[in-house]
Amino acid sequence: MERTYIMVKPDGVQRGIVGNIISRFEQKGYVMVAMKTRMATPELLDEHYCDLVEKPFFPKLREYLLSGPVVSMCWEGKEAVSTGRKMLGATNPLESAPGTIRGDFCIEVGRNICHGSDSVENANKELALWFEESELLDWESHSHDWLYE
Ligand code: GTP
Ligand code: MG
Repeated sequence: MERTYIMVKPDGVQRGIVGNIISRFEQKGYVMVAMKTRMATPELLDEHYCDLVEKPFFPKLREYLLSGPVVSMCWEGKEAVSTGRKMLGATNPLESAPGTIRGDFCIEVGRNICHGSDSVENANKELALWFEESELLDWESHSHDWLYE
């Protein structure tokens, strides 16, 4: 089954939105494969956002993500990567549809409370970056046969 990397950024943790984000993925029917609270590091962020390091906003992005704990999660299920992105909403929260996480909880692109992998390939890279292999559990929810035909 497909896996995606979802991360609650420091503003989402500080504002107490972690539980709401977990609930949305649980309610959708996705399975939590792993979760942990940690501080990011400059090295992790340079790797995680390697396509953005040359952008003018990157120093601010780095500072933002180092400003407090993040919550790293792996969610699993059918099309978890693309659906996870839809659940997060557009990058700029003023353009995120109401009903999405960013659409419901935030205002600025530099404080958009969550990250979601943008492709299966990047999801696998990000999961390997933020988690040890042994932290990613293989298990099937009892709801499986009620969610999938
Ligand atoms: P992530 O899920 O966090 O990867 O966001 P995304 O895939 O929707 O967007 P992208 O990967 O292009 O940008 C990564 C993050 O950089 C965004 O989520 C924002 O937090 C931040 N960011 C992107 N563009 C800007 C910008 O123009 N200004 C600022 N301040 N931050 C930006
Ligand atoms: Mg991105």
